[in-house]
Amino acid sequence: METKISSSIEEAADLLNRGQLVAIPTETVYGLAANALDKTAVVEIFNAKQRPSFDPLIVHIGNKSDVNRYASHIPINAQKLMDSFWPGPLTVVLPKQNCIPDEVTSGLDTVGIRMPNHSLTLQLLSKLDFPLAAPSANPFGYISPTTSQHVFDQLQNRIPMILDGGSCDIGVESTIVGFEGELPIVYRLGGLTLEDIRNVCGEIKVEVNSSSDPKAPGMLKSHYAPTKPLKIISSNHNFNDLTNHSALIVFGDFEKTTHAQLFNLSPIGNYKEAASNLFSFLRKLDTDDNVKEIFAVLLPSINLGIAINDRLSRAAHQD
Ligand code: TXA
Ligand code: MG
Repeated sequence: METKISSSIEEAADLLNRGQLVAIPTETVYGLAANALDKTAVVEIFNAKQRPSFDPLIVHIGNKSDVNRYASHIPINAQKLMDSFWPGPLTVVLPKQNCIPDEVTSGLDTVGIRMPNHSLTLQLLSKLDFPLAAPSANPFGYISPTTSQHVFDQLQNRIPMILDGGSCDIGVESTIVGFEGELPIVYRLGGLTLEDIRNVCGEIKVEVNSSSDPKAPGMLKSHYAPTKPLKIISSNHNFNDLTNHSALIVFGDFEKTTHAQLFNLSPIGNYKEAASNLFSFLRKLDTDDNVKEIFAVLLPSINLGIAINDRLSRAAHQD
């Protein structure tokens, strides 16, 4: 099957209406989409990504009010978060309605739902009679794609179409929030910061490291990983140790001397810029023959630095 890269919403809608897969742009990362209400189409997503069936998919909707069709209960804090941050990088995990097939939720009785903030994908959703189930459009465990070319590099000939919406504005995945009663529980750090969630809801709980917990299987410690070794090093490291076969990922002002090839996520220390560069840098270094190992210095643990550090740490984890 030849993979077409195109910006035609009509073609994308036509393929999706026929139960086929289309990679779609969002503000976070590209997703690999199918009709979320069609079991057979959803199973094809797992095949194309080689994703284990225990890892549930996020359902993407085009209107805030559609959440009522797919969730059976909405805590007040969930409603406040959706009102404040949709469309945007927030996924809410809510008890599901029966119309959402078990294939989407890996048999859980909850479903992750989000309204993405990308004009092409919102236009596409407005043309469809169904929501789109979509994980990130990368082979399972690898770095998420932030351009149509990234998707093409890995999924060419496995899917009929990539809807080209340019490069993703945010560059890390959505923040995933579930609820215990009214208490928001953050299952995955992402493009919406903890500060933003606290400002709306007050107290929150962060439970992102439960790699063995089947409730958040996407949070396996080793994830988002390049094939080359990646090591986290402290900012006090003697950087002169590193050879010119190494790449060093840093952030902000960096004046140390080193033989390593330097990749600065944002020389001016802008967290948003750093997030949008992270996955492209990792992909570029992973395919560059002059780079044998990758080193990274963590960012200050504030703002999007928290999600970026989470991704770097998981990329560094070996098992
Ligand atoms: O930004 C994003 O969220 C992107 C774009 C395409 O929307 N999607 C994405 O999907 O990152 P994916 O499949 O790579 O990650 C989805 C994760 C799962 O691995 C799981 O941890 C969590 O969402 N998830 C989905 N449904 C869940 C549920 N019912 N309960 C708990 N976690 C859930
Ligand atoms: Mg993913």
